[in-house]
Amino acid sequence: MPLTELTTRALASIAAADSVKALEELRVHMLGKSGELTAQLKTLGALPPEERKEKGAALNRVKEELSAALEARKTSLETQELDERLASETIDVTLPATPSMTGSIHPITQVTEELIAIFADFGFQVAEGPEIEDDFHNFTALNIPESHPARQMHDTFYLKGILGDATDNAVAQHAVLRTHTSPVQVRTMQSQTPPIRIIAPGATYRSDSDMTHTPMFHQIEGLVIEKNIHMGHLKGLLHDALGAFFGLEQVPMRFRASFFPFTEPSAEVDIGCKRGRDALVIGEGSDWLEVAGCGMVHPNVLRNCGLDPDEWQGFAFGCGIERLAMLKYNIPDLRTMFAGDVRWLNHYGFRALDIPSLVKGVTA
Ligand code: PHE
Repeated sequence: MPLTELTTRALASIAAADSVKALEELRVHMLGKSGELTAQLKTLGALPPEERKEKGAALNRVKEELSAALEARKTSLETQELDERLASETIDVTLPATPSMTGSIHPITQVTEELIAIFADFGFQVAEGPEIEDDFHNFTALNIPESHPARQMHDTFYLKGILGDATDNAVAQHAVLRTHTSPVQVRTMQSQTPPIRIIAPGATYRSDSDMTHTPMFHQIEGLVIEKNIHMGHLKGLLHDALGAFFGLEQVPMRFRASFFPFTEPSAEVDIGCKRGRDALVIGEGSDWLEVAGCGMVHPNVLRNCGLDPDEWQGFAFGCGIERLAMLKYNIPDLRTMFAGDVRWLNHYGFRALDIPSLVKGVTA
């Protein structure tokens, strides 16, 4: 084939190539080891010197021209293919390069969720109340009248002018940060008709700060109102709930007679444990640890909430959540719970997907 025709055809094919792959095939076909142009270059050796020089120069010019055309076409096809890909593919650049979990669930949250899972299984609903309470719900309705010495037992934070109309001093002076979760008992009895079975976890406040006390801490309150309910039910419930919480079939438990204005009789609950050199073992040994206050709801409290004590009875209990978390997860110092130290959180925190459930047992 004459050289000019070969060139024209080759240039036309290059221009018509519709993909980088097709273009590469063309290159091999023309300039490859057994390509058309290569074949012609191979014949040069047999030509007389004059002709060889002339034809050689011509062939090389064609080779360069074709190479340049191939290169130019390749660049334009690559750009075109990239544009098409960009138009057809979407990519969410806001997604993290690799999914990584940062942050963790605080032991207080974890233990709260564990307790909710356990009590939900016993048919308890979660109830809530405000952290800024009024005097009535925090004290008076709970059988703690103004002059009662029990008011001094609670190192109460009083707030001024927060609740209600700030000009109404009677109300404003009696706003408090709730000193326990027991006011949620009152709110629940006022708003629901019995039978009642609730637990109320949440933050509580007392003006107290030392090795074992922080001004803000958490409690979980339990309240059951039914007919013919008695202390035996309370003991059975707390035994089974604490067993589920600590992952034990049997929990050594002792009820010590105590006093709370809102329960009668009242008791404090201790669980058996062994205080080892570096860790505490629950359920063994001969030491005792207090974990809850409890008792039968005082008839005055029932009356204050509009219930007839001759018809309805109930029991209530309250536990410190930090205390339970420290016991279960061997956390030696209460104050570290609120220090916000990321090393502590990484060590004692829980993975966000470790949602407590009774299916796998709430014991991590
Ligand atoms: N409210 C009590 C406290 O804070 C605990 C408690 C709750 C005791 C319910 C008896 C019944 O100490």
